[in-house]
Amino acid sequence: LFPFHCRQVLAHRGLAALKKTPLFDFHRDQGGKMVEFAGWSMPVQYKDSHIASHMHTREHCSIFDVSHMLQTNVHGKDRVKFMESLVVADIAELKDNQGTLTLFTNEKGGIIDDLIVTKTDQGYLYVVSNAGCADKDSAHMKARLAEFKYAGFDVDLEFLDCALIAVQGPTMSRVLQAGLKEDLSKLTFMTSALATVFGVPDCRVTRCGYTGEDGVEISIPESRVVELTEKLAANSEVKLAGLGARDSLRLEAGLCLYGNDIDETTTPVEATLVWTIGKRRRQAKDFPGADIIVPQIKAKTARKRVGLVSTGPPVRQHTPILSPDGKVIGEVTSGCPSPCLKNNIAMGYVDAAFAKNGTGIQVEVRKKAVPATVSKMPFVPTKYYTG
Ligand SMILES: *[C@@H]1O[C@H](CO)[C@@H](O)[C@H](O)[C@H]1NC(C)=O
Repeated sequence: LFPFHCRQVLAHRGLAALKKTPLFDFHRDQGGKMVEFAGWSMPVQYKDSHIASHMHTREHCSIFDVSHMLQTNVHGKDRVKFMESLVVADIAELKDNQGTLTLFTNEKGGIIDDLIVTKTDQGYLYVVSNAGCADKDSAHMKARLAEFKYAGFDVDLEFLDCALIAVQGPTMSRVLQAGLKEDLSKLTFMTSALATVFGVPDCRVTRCGYTGEDGVEISIPESRVVELTEKLAANSEVKLAGLGARDSLRLEAGLCLYGNDIDETTTPVEATLVWTIGKRRRQAKDFPGADIIVPQIKAKTARKRVGLVSTGPPVRQHTPILSPDGKVIGEVTSGCPSPCLKNNIAMGYVDAAFAKNGTGIQVEVRKKAVPATVSKMPFVPTKYYTG
């Protein structure tokens, strides 16, 4: 029905067992169609079609409720050392209030989750990781915390109950600036600030998002999120958007969905996420799985994540990818018709011999081989605000 496929959707759990964000009643009042995602009841779309909502985000501004994501503050004077013991990024070199996309890796080099770590100037790291991984991420961090405390280090974890909304699209800055004292043009991509937003104090505004557009994520005290969302949505530029649009937007932007495109069986090198590994970390080989991951950077891997474009029938997750002579060379991990490009876009893993941009391959849709081409990503140019 909509290009939204995710392993984390647990079809058989009773509705009563689903977790609700503080915006749950608001979503229903706004005509949100609620579906289960990672144990949460979330809007997949509102009254507009998925495609209209997608295009609105590319041309105007949309609000997404992402309160289901795990938000954690890491405190203590050894917080950087603690976080670096879990992720591949160089956290030490981040400037104050700068953030980075990074990966929790395991000892086998697999990806436990992708996350954003921001080094705030308030004496803590602010971490946002995926809802579908919340239980294992918190357990993973707590286990390392126990080791660190036992070794005498000064670290503490604070799991936040704040709401989180993503405000995304080319007119976001105009919409948000109207409710901000601070000059939003100073807040560049992947930087963060505490601010009062439309009269709501204690909001953390981070210039990031997962649509490929300019945007922010705003972490808000739960008790004020409905009020702030209503104030933002009062602007005629702004519409609400659901998980359906979020998925096709991130795919056009070439961004991975954890559980589909990356998981504990894929390494950062296979996933073409080597850029997330800090240079110093690579040299020191001091992150989990470094003994497997670092040699892969030079030696190359047998398979690689690539983008695919095709015409004809939609290409979905688990679609087999075939060589020109019909041998299986991989599998699609995410795919949808691109609302912007009007063709099919997908990502998946292929034998490295077929990974070059422009390589002609095939995808097997409904038992038929359909021609497809390996493509660079992002499929749609990203428009992050770099100042
Ligand atoms: C990728 O390949 C396509 C042909 O399929 C070509 O038009 C395009 O210029 C190539 N892009 C890059 C960045 O090499």
